[in-house]
Amino acid sequence: MSEKKHVNGGFSSSFGFVLACVGSAVGLGNIWLFPYRLGQYGGAAFLLPYVLFVALFGLVGLSAEFALGRLAGTGTLGAYKYCFDRIGKGKLGQILGWIPLLGSLGIAIGYSIIIGWVIRSFAGSLTGAILTEDSAAYFAVAAQHLGSVPWHVLAVGTAVVILLCNAVSGIEKANKILMPVFFLLFVVLAVRVAFLPGAAVGYEFLFVPKWEYLLRADTWVMAMGQAFFTLSITGSGMIVYGSYLNKKENIPRASVQTAVFDTIAALLAALAIMPAVFAFGIAPDRGPSLMFVTLPNVFRQMPMGRLFAAIFFLSVCFAGITSLMNMFEAVIESWQHRFGLKRRLSVLLCGGIVLGVGLFLEHGDSVGWWMDFITIDIVPIGAVLGAISVYYILGYRKIKEEMDQGREKPLPVVFGALAKYVYVPLTIIVLILGFVYNGIG
Ligand code: PFF
Repeated sequence: MSEKKHVNGGFSSSFGFVLACVGSAVGLGNIWLFPYRLGQYGGAAFLLPYVLFVALFGLVGLSAEFALGRLAGTGTLGAYKYCFDRIGKGKLGQILGWIPLLGSLGIAIGYSIIIGWVIRSFAGSLTGAILTEDSAAYFAVAAQHLGSVPWHVLAVGTAVVILLCNAVSGIEKANKILMPVFFLLFVVLAVRVAFLPGAAVGYEFLFVPKWEYLLRADTWVMAMGQAFFTLSITGSGMIVYGSYLNKKENIPRASVQTAVFDTIAALLAALAIMPAVFAFGIAPDRGPSLMFVTLPNVFRQMPMGRLFAAIFFLSVCFAGITSLMNMFEAVIESWQHRFGLKRRLSVLLCGGIVLGVGLFLEHGDSVGWWMDFITIDIVPIGAVLGAISVYYILGYRKIKEEMDQGREKPLPVVFGALAKYVYVPLTIIVLILGFVYNGIG
């Protein structure tokens, strides 16, 4: 079949595509949220709802975004127009598409500040400066007003340079190098940590199942929010990667592979982090304080801690940059498509806005506030919009045709039922519960 190629090119293989999607999915959510939640909400028992949601959202939710992108031949703005054209309201679709687009842009703004802190911590590991007695004070310098401008510029600059040099082939190449290195380095860390005396308490925290947690609503709520965020289901980023995929690829299979690798990364992060924290008798934590205060404290007390700190922060940096590239690409491609911008201009504009707005938010409290605002208020709306647009506005029959391309057997009937009657309502529930709990993703 003759196929129209995207001006930005296309993924050269299904492996390259899956790695790029894994690059987007594996990020801070896996590293600084998952390990703590696993231990806090029932240990191995938490894995039950978590895997259930990841499997469902992976299969039905990721497939929807990939297939929409491939069918429409473009990312966020054009894709929503495409869906709404079916009901004669293309213009409305184009306007609504800005919500998920702003979601991607918004996460990129906050994420790049945090990646800046990670790069600073990597540099601090190389020089040994991070292994100070008072890791909270070391981090406080970065998290003060305009405390890490050069590092912030470096984070945005790295994503911009990769996306400027090459379009899709650049994304594919970067992920093909960075993601395997990330996995390898985290395996090294997990193995090293296993030999620390006292690590066993960490494994207990993570894996001894406390089944009674399955009777608590918040266990299920957190598992659901975590599953959404970790798979980057935002109604935006995964659509643009789908638009670079050729018709021969099996979308549901690629979606499941993405979810499986993402889960392996989350478990690896738990194995690399929590046993080390417990081995040194430090209380477990989540979020920025886990990464920038608790862990440097651990590395300081660990033999060859400087080396392991450098390995840790370098791999987190890789995970972050590959997620950042996806958020950027969602915005860049949409502007190219919608306004006919040259790619170079679109990349620079996006980088300029991410940095320009980010500079105003360069303070620990402001970033926290901003990320809450974006991930609680904007991103879940994008996810709901994506799900409804694909399965109800465009319609199941049409998207199923697209998903069946590249497959030997057509999708079973149960897929449609899960998508329309389970997945779509759950996206709405995630949005509502996010407000109620003030953040679950
Ligand atoms: N999935 C990423 C994480 O777990 O950190 C976060 C993310 C990346 C969300 C890319 C949205 C996105 F477009």
